[in-house]
Amino acid sequence: MAAGFVYREHGLNCDGVAVADIVSAVGTPVYLYSAARVREAFTTLDRAFAAAPHTIHYALKANSTLALLRVLRALGAHADANSGGEIDVALRAGFEPGAIVFTGVGKTREELTKAAGLGLKAVNVESAGEAVRLGEIARALGRRVRVAVRVNPDIDAHTHTHIATGRRGNKFGVPLEHVPGLFRDLRARDGLDPVGLHVHLGSQLLDVAPLAAAARVLANLAREVRDAGIRIEHLDLGGGLGVAYDDGVAPSPAAYAEAVLPAIREAGAHLVLEPGRALVAPAGVLVGRVADLKAYPGSPRFVILDTGMTELIRPMLYGAFHRIGAVVPRPGEAPVSEIVGPLCETSDTLGRERAVGPVEVGDAIAVFDAGAYGMVMASNYNRRPMAAEVLIDAGGWRVVRRRQTIDDLLALEE
Ligand SMILES: Cc1ncc(COP(=O)(O)O)c(C=O)c1O
Repeated sequence: MAAGFVYREHGLNCDGVAVADIVSAVGTPVYLYSAARVREAFTTLDRAFAAAPHTIHYALKANSTLALLRVLRALGAHADANSGGEIDVALRAGFEPGAIVFTGVGKTREELTKAAGLGLKAVNVESAGEAVRLGEIARALGRRVRVAVRVNPDIDAHTHTHIATGRRGNKFGVPLEHVPGLFRDLRARDGLDPVGLHVHLGSQLLDVAPLAAAARVLANLAREVRDAGIRIEHLDLGGGLGVAYDDGVAPSPAAYAEAVLPAIREAGAHLVLEPGRALVAPAGVLVGRVADLKAYPGSPRFVILDTGMTELIRPMLYGAFHRIGAVVPRPGEAPVSEIVGPLCETSDTLGRERAVGPVEVGDAIAVFDAGAYGMVMASNYNRRPMAAEVLIDAGGWRVVRRRQTIDDLLALEE
């Protein structure tokens, strides 16, 4: 049986543990994660690429809770950090500096200095200016820094515009035609060792054709710079593999591998992948309780939860869809409902026109596939303390991040 969250006779269950029991003990809002589901996703992806030398650098931006990072590290995952903070968290989770790639538009001098001093696997530079600054820092520190150039290939990833990153006009990467010149420049620049090419088209990709096109672009570029006498060690295809939030079909890891491996093999380079969402989204649910119910004539039926955009902002930020269901469904019928949060924003709606069945105040409601870009985007808006997080593993469960308190929140203030 597949690992993760499934409905059984007495309600929602995760790997043999009743979700209702955890929620009664820990309270709401709470994020629950299935360690087994994370392991399954990682292993399936890793096996799909077995035919080529590759390394999976888990993208911390999707979810950087230490307990999950440790699960992934134990499986052999490496790390992709998107800020100085994520580098620190990766190190605390036990990743070696040489297992970390550092991406991100707008890296500060402090972040570049940290990266240069640590000896990361690669700093993925986003512009010629950033390369110049990194070179200066490397020379000042007397270090050599391994760099990859992030290419903007101008490929449409067919995803939501807010999470598309590989089109000309997006702020990310170096336009394709400038990359060979920058590479020659890097070689001439003391302190930097150009070792790779990087691309990331966007997130939640449901079609592998753009990923295949990006692999081809990197392979061609690798050939071009190799002809100029520079050896490329690795090609980094970024992340982006989508998940089926709405019971539709997402590309399988096998289809992903089949689409990109021919070009990568031809290039004879080591493949780096930076998946985030596909490894952790289906492994997490957010659970809240019904705080109020409202049904006035001329207005939809509102199911008002004690959780909303402060815990999971994806629906409000880019219209993302998450399945929603009662933790212990009640028998019978009920009108479709607007599932909303308690925040003072009309956009604080988790789901529109949803059939969650009959519910009563106090019932626990699960928002599915919330393991990625959920907790990491949480906020304290309306002075709401952040949710607790629970890891379900080997038939047991434990709180891996306690619920924030108002004292935690005020600890930084005068
Ligand atoms: C550079 C980079 N790598 C990897 C990822 C992870 O993407 P995903 O979670 O879609 O796999 C992102 C996310 O946008 C990213 O910007």
